Amino acid sequence: MEEETETVENRNNLVFAVNGERFEVSAIHPSTTLLEFLRSRTPFKSVKLGCGEGMSNCFVYGYQSGKLTSNGFLHFFFPKCWIMSEGLGNTKDGLHPIHQRFSGFHASQCGFCTPGMCISLFAALVNADKTNRPQPFPGFSKLTVSEAENAITGNLCRCTGYRPIVDVCKSFASDVDIEDLGFNSFWKKGETKEIKLSRLPLYKNNDQTCTFPEFLKRETRSTVILDHGRFCWHTPVSVKNLQSILESSKADNGTSMKLVVGNTGMGYFKELGDYDKYIDIRYIPELSRIKRDKTGIEIGAAVTISKVIEALKEGNGGEHPTQGAVVFKKIADHMEKVATRFIRNSASIGGNLVMAQRKQFPSDITTILLVVGTVVEIMNGLRCEKLRLEEFLERPPLDSNSVLLSVKIPQCSPSIDISSRFNGKLLFETYRAASRPSGNALAYLNAAFMVEVSPCRSSDKLMINHCKLAFGACGKRQVIRAWKSEEFLTGKLLTNEVLYEVVKLLRGTIAPDDDITDPGYRLSLAVGFLFKFFSSLTETADISNGWFGWGKNSLMPKDSNGKQTYGQFDDGKHLTFLMSGHQVLKSSKEYDPVGQPITKLEASIQASGEAVYVDDIPSPVNCLYGAFIYSTKPLARIKDITFRTKSLPDGVFALISSKDIPEGGANIGAGAFSYTEPLFADGLAECFGHRVALVVADTQKHANEAAEHAVIDYHTENLELPILSVEEAVMKSSFFEVLPFFQPRQVGDLSKGMAEADHKIISAEIRLGSQYYFYMETQTALAVPDEDNCIVVCSSTQSPQFVQTTIARCLGVPEHNVRVITRRVGGGFGGKALKSIPVAVACAVAAHKLRRPVRIYVNRKTDMIMAGGRHPMKITYSVGFRSDGKITALKLDILIDAGMAAIISPILMPHNIINALKKYNWGALSFDIKVCKTNLPGRSTMRAPGELQGSYIAEAVIEHVASTLSIEVDSVRKINLHTFDSLKIFYEGSAGEFQEYTLPCIWDKLAMSSSFSERTEMIKEFNRCNIWQKRGISRVPIVHEVKKFNKPGKVSILSDGSVVVEVGGIEIGQGLWTKVKQMAAYGLSLIQCDAIENHLLDKVRVVQADTLSMIQGGITGGSTASESCCEAIRLCCNILVERLLPLKEKLLKEVGAVNWDTLIRQAYAQSTNLSASSYYVPEINSKAYLNYGAAVSEVELDLLTGAVTILQADIIYDCGKSLNPAVDLGQVEGAFVQGIGFFMLEEYITNSDGLVVPEGTWKYKIPTVDTIPRQFNVELLNSGNHQKCVLSSKASGEPPLLLAASVHCATRVAIKEARKQLRSWSSSFEGLDSTFDLPVPATMPVVKQLCGLENVETYLKWKIGRS
Ligand SMILES: Cc1cc2nc3c(=O)[nH]c(=O)nc-3n(C[C@H](O)[C@H](O)[C@H](O)COP(=O)(O)OP(=O)(O)OC[C@H]3O[C@@H](n4cnc5c(N)ncnc54)[C@H](O)[C@@H]3O)c2cc1C
Ligand code: FES
Repeated sequence: MEEETETVENRNNLVFAVNGERFEVSAIHPSTTLLEFLRSRTPFKSVKLGCGEGMSNCFVYGYQSGKLTSNGFLHFFFPKCWIMSEGLGNTKDGLHPIHQRFSGFHASQCGFCTPGMCISLFAALVNADKTNRPQPFPGFSKLTVSEAENAITGNLCRCTGYRPIVDVCKSFASDVDIEDLGFNSFWKKGETKEIKLSRLPLYKNNDQTCTFPEFLKRETRSTVILDHGRFCWHTPVSVKNLQSILESSKADNGTSMKLVVGNTGMGYFKELGDYDKYIDIRYIPELSRIKRDKTGIEIGAAVTISKVIEALKEGNGGEHPTQGAVVFKKIADHMEKVATRFIRNSASIGGNLVMAQRKQFPSDITTILLVVGTVVEIMNGLRCEKLRLEEFLERPPLDSNSVLLSVKIPQCSPSIDISSRFNGKLLFETYRAASRPSGNALAYLNAAFMVEVSPCRSSDKLMINHCKLAFGACGKRQVIRAWKSEEFLTGKLLTNEVLYEVVKLLRGTIAPDDDITDPGYRLSLAVGFLFKFFSSLTETADISNGWFGWGKNSLMPKDSNGKQTYGQFDDGKHLTFLMSGHQVLKSSKEYDPVGQPITKLEASIQASGEAVYVDDIPSPVNCLYGAFIYSTKPLARIKDITFRTKSLPDGVFALISSKDIPEGGANIGAGAFSYTEPLFADGLAECFGHRVALVVADTQKHANEAAEHAVIDYHTENLELPILSVEEAVMKSSFFEVLPFFQPRQVGDLSKGMAEADHKIISAEIRLGSQYYFYMETQTALAVPDEDNCIVVCSSTQSPQFVQTTIARCLGVPEHNVRVITRRVGGGFGGKALKSIPVAVACAVAAHKLRRPVRIYVNRKTDMIMAGGRHPMKITYSVGFRSDGKITALKLDILIDAGMAAIISPILMPHNIINALKKYNWGALSFDIKVCKTNLPGRSTMRAPGELQGSYIAEAVIEHVASTLSIEVDSVRKINLHTFDSLKIFYEGSAGEFQEYTLPCIWDKLAMSSSFSERTEMIKEFNRCNIWQKRGISRVPIVHEVKKFNKPGKVSILSDGSVVVEVGGIEIGQGLWTKVKQMAAYGLSLIQCDAIENHLLDKVRVVQADTLSMIQGGITGGSTASESCCEAIRLCCNILVERLLPLKEKLLKEVGAVNWDTLIRQAYAQSTNLSASSYYVPEINSKAYLNYGAAVSEVELDLLTGAVTILQADIIYDCGKSLNPAVDLGQVEGAFVQGIGFFMLEEYITNSDGLVVPEGTWKYKIPTVDTIPRQFNVELLNSGNHQKCVLSSKASGEPPLLLAASVHCATRVAIKEARKQLRSWSSSFEGLDSTFDLPVPATMPVVKQLCGLENVETYLKWKIGRS
């Protein structure tokens, strides 16, 4: 410690700036992260907690370092400054053009991700503008389009589908073609480029936002040697310092200690508890420097991955880079796919290697550095030693006293003796396969190959002089060297025979661990990578012509034109993400401003981070925090709950369980309709994730830690085995009753239909899994006790009314004692309809008992475990059809897994499944649906609940029929589309009028606009010419019934003419408030004052839902809440107009003209009642109506990895007379992308013990910007008048999600091609069925499995046989 004081100025305070404001902190726990500090100790809330794992979007821009950062500890050595979105601009000081463009491009929905997106873009702009590229045109930055697309690759958004966000980013790029930018509110169609440019909010690329504050310039480099009770933080500034700290810790037996750099490892390992000592090694010069000489690059272990990338790329320019420089460039390229940019900005190379060495972290960096012969230097005590990376990895896990000092990446060059004899050349390539192509997902497998080859003089083949083949991320062994394969290859001429042999050897070497998922797939990836690397070398005959010319950035061979060749491969490296998108929408002036694409109400305050979500409400004085303790058994009795720690964990105040329900109250956690479920398991836990208790502590962190430390004493004596599948539920007759009223209607006579069939498929099976909501804001609530036994609860919920009634029942108080307030929800997707209720109720119970405010912000892991999600199901069907594909009868047996709680499964699911499935004319339709009760988490509504599955089941049946008949599936779809007559039979009561049935017109229109037939032909040609890529295209229709619900509304006009509006619906990102505001402006404009229309819109404010002010709000869901709320508001406006009209007429007569403000002043003077309420109850025969749409999707498969790229999606969706086309467009795109998640990516599974497997973002992958369609075209069809609809508008929230089935269907087409090819290679695959089950989601392993895990070997054998 003494030594430190010699070299470092110690001080007791940390001084830094946030958004230009000075902060000085004297006492803070060493483990406090920047995020925690910003959210709890500053007024700024734009950084949000999304996952706590570094995978989502919650970060700030460090403007001294020029970096984005998130997870790191608060401690630092230099005075620091950070900027968050509200620091860029805000409503008081003026918004930043980034915020304005987010709003104008309609790029924010729930807005929870938006500040993070803004900061990501800002960082990209600042970095681009720092370059010495030519000055861009005024208003633009130096950013390029491709950098703009990359700016948000690490960010997650669950609402928008990313397309408009990418447009915002591109709008700043100097090389953007403005015509490529999507729909926005800045310009109108047909305006000139110049006008368009002039309308964009001006960006000044000499932005002064990041000026280092004067007050920080006076601060010296300093650090806190922090003394927080028993915890302390050290910042050594030399290796000597470090050694002495380590020595003193060693002497101090029992002191726990941790070296830290970026602390990003915490996102993966989620360590519990604190260390006594944290040693921050970032400021030790020896560990932070990069030395370069002709032997290679030596990198200090604390250097960030971003800096390593920069260093590796440095000096790589020029026409003829050295082989070593090209190797460095390739390593850098691979590292750019490690994590995300903001993680790479803080994460160190040393931290990565240590995580791999110590805890088998599936690192990419170890694999790629290993093959290039990297050497590391380790220090233990005073001893330092240098080791080859390989040796380092093989050693026992590094102890906590050892330090990795540096990493030396040697300059690679061919060995001299070999090159002199054979003119040898190095070939180097790295690979990774992951669910997201550009990073932010751990690899299923990574690989790096370094091979030295030379031409053989006696043949046209290549000789392998030596090689290193390494594979990583496949289990406990961090990196596997394929020694046997290497030995075998050395000295061999490269032929298909040799390749075949080496592949066989490789299969014996890379045996992924048993406990790893998809071992067969990972093995096939290893083979695929190896094949990809070598096959272009075996297949190129002319080795003299350009074989060893060095590409600018490649060590792979070149073709005869001097171009780098990947042979038949295309690993997507050259492709940008979203190439373009077209949006076709018509606005209508009929009900102006209803029908106008006005920007979303709070988009700009969402962007600036000023929008307040529940967790942004400052904690009241004495606030406590809760975390759920849940069962980790599917079925067990709960005897007791204790803690793993000897004493009560830090900060714990109370443990709330069913015993704490007050007298007169009931243990109810969720109640809606006739259903209730307990708040806490009362002695018996019925699923993994069942709430057992709530631990309440002084901070959210302490509460979460205590919950993790909880130990539940279970016993299972005399209990039956849990029911963990629908089959077991059937065996035990464990069902929830579906009342006859909720039973869907069968159609026609099944036996007659079957008798009419030429062919039958009997008892085919489909299984569909679950999906997690992945709202960016997890479940959260704040309960504050009020006087006289009252309570105020702020809840992020889609159903405040049910929160209120459930709290009242639980506490045993009248409902008027409970005020529930919901301003906005950071994403709901149905997950906050009912699952939000117990969170708010638990807060209320704890607050009631402790007489203190209590809040809960459920962490991502707990949320994922308790959420339940979409209903999985098993479907067995029999179908009869004629030879032309016309289906005559369909019989279904559906087993729905509702989990342990009914919630609304029996009410909703059977009806919704069948309704969406009826989109085709099945002739006769019969079904048996069982809602199974299992010991799995209770499922709930998720966007398009049941409809998504029903619509997909229909497609699966159609596809099965088409492949049985070997006819084009599109023609089977077409022949089975409804006529208006059959539509009326299937959708009795909701089919509407003949002219409203727009599906046939959409079907044909889409064929034209997407060039469906031409592209189908082109795809055939593509598939004929390409071996390792196959394409597929598919067109899918939807018919989706929605029902309008009762909704209350209230409009009040204040004395200055401003208007306040309340509705029973909740703004969850779907634009409900915006539409309501438009409707209020329209409704009141009917009074027809002078020049009223335009300014009325600005006068309207929609305010938060408050259950004591607006009763009977019900649930916001089912796609129709916006229109029902609008109708309620229209009714209110009618009342007000009626009241005001006599006065207006009178004034008109008296003074000749009346403006709005005068009218209202006079109305106040005359004591007119200027507040009107209404309760919209749709008439029974106009409650339900049908929505139509269709989509064409085209995909490309990589047969070596199973990766699916969505090349294009075209959607036409009938929105009627859209209330707001911009909002509806956002709903269509966002829903479609969420559907892509369900069909292609998201695996929300439970294991055989009933435990939820994905507990966070590491395993659960929602779509990112690199997984959406590259070309994304959407047309909103304005289909004219619809009497049953509100001002002829139609819903958009859920139906478009169903259209994403087109991506899955297109994938099936492409897989079919792959299987056809496989059959052509080997007779052993002759029986390979062209009818196959393509599971949902069709993840990479699933696709690869269906394309043949051994397709490479089969191909090679075929090739060899032909030569
Ligand atoms: C969201 C996310 C995605 C990721 N994706 C990938 C990926 O795709 N591929 C991949 O390879 N990696 C990935 N990573 C891992 C990332 O590269 C590592 O988290 C990072 O490199 C660790 O660096 P750090 O400085 O934050 O280490 P820290 O978290 O500070 O430290 C990690 C561990 O190493 C120890 N340590 C650190 N430095 C030293 C040293 N010099 N000597 C001894 N011990 C030391 C620490 O005590 C700690 O135990 C991902 C990480 C995140 C958070
Ligand atoms: S707007 Fe992106 S998560 Fe909601």
